[in-house]
Amino acid sequence: MRILGIETSCDETSAAIVREHDGAWTIDSNIVSSQVNVHREWGGVVPELASRQHIRDICGIVRGALDTAMIDWPDVDAVAVTQGPGLVGSLLVGVSFAKSVALSLSRPLVPVHHLAGHIESLFLEQGREDAIPLPMVALVVSGGHTSLYVVRSPGAYQRVGRTRDDAAGEAYDKVAKLLGLGYPGGPIVDKVAGHGDESAVDLPATRITHRDRNAPSMKGDLDFSFSGLKTAVLRHVNKTSVAPGQTSLSDNEIADICASFQRVVVSTLLDRLFDAAEQFGAHSVGIAGGVSANSRLRRDLAARGQREGLPAFIPRLSLSTDNAAMIAAAGLRNYHAGVRAGWDLNADPSLEL
Ligand code: KG4
Ligand code: ZN
Repeated sequence: MRILGIETSCDETSAAIVREHDGAWTIDSNIVSSQVNVHREWGGVVPELASRQHIRDICGIVRGALDTAMIDWPDVDAVAVTQGPGLVGSLLVGVSFAKSVALSLSRPLVPVHHLAGHIESLFLEQGREDAIPLPMVALVVSGGHTSLYVVRSPGAYQRVGRTRDDAAGEAYDKVAKLLGLGYPGGPIVDKVAGHGDESAVDLPATRITHRDRNAPSMKGDLDFSFSGLKTAVLRHVNKTSVAPGQTSLSDNEIADICASFQRVVVSTLLDRLFDAAEQFGAHSVGIAGGVSANSRLRRDLAARGQREGLPAFIPRLSLSTDNAAMIAAAGLRNYHAGVRAGWDLNADPSLEL
């Protein structure tokens, strides 16, 4: 079967066709239009501008997905769409469009959780619905989320850790902003960090312990916190500030701060991921979401997985950041589990997984 995936939860308009045959998943198209240039001058995503841009782009993007897959409307067997979480105005564009397509084609409408999409990008990367040894512990790390899930069987996700404050991608974006590096911050800090000394700046790694007696973890807590780290970077920068918003840092000092910040973020993420893997007897680990595009995280995950004898999975860059192919993949899981939405489907900006 062929499923059309639609993703508009934040600032990427995306549509994809994923084909399934005997458990194999093939990406026939995955078209993404990023709104980075629309939001850059504001230093972050402006919700109203985002929804307006989705409206402008969605028709052409879906048409592009059909054309690239060399199919037409009647060849679409089901429509999957991100229902949440995300920006409500942005989500509504995708949900309304998907409803219209499904209704006019008389095809099933399948709602998808955005984070389930990120987790399924790990399977999609391998090209098979059953390609990863389970149970797997998956870290979903993006601009809005930093969460750990245990996947015991296909499509069954149990959250065992989350951030108490900032998401890791959000911390990257904020640190980039306070260093005057521009937007979006993650890829820039990643690049600049490559020129710095990772031990130059002493920054704290936050470890949360003993949450409560009912916590799913036994040995230590699996939650994250990144706001203290961001504040530590701010304090370090303020020491050398000449005026509010202006720093007298040299390029080398900025690179050192980026490298030190990145060292702490990456080691925190990996420590927690591998702790969780041990606690839950995982047979594999995976990292998905926008921050999984990070070069150091990718390198260190591979090394750590090898050292600990655990298969470690990470999607290619085009499946790491927001895209509709992952929504189509999660849509296939939901479709086979019998999940269907009615014509009253609504966007849910705080949908839980
Ligand atoms: O998954 P995603 O595309 O959108 C959300 O669902 O949030 O993730 C976007 C986040 C942003 O915070 C961005 O700065 C971060 O992923 N990001 C990175 C890198 N590329 C994107 N963070 C660190 N290193 C990167 N190379
Ligand atoms: Zn995302």
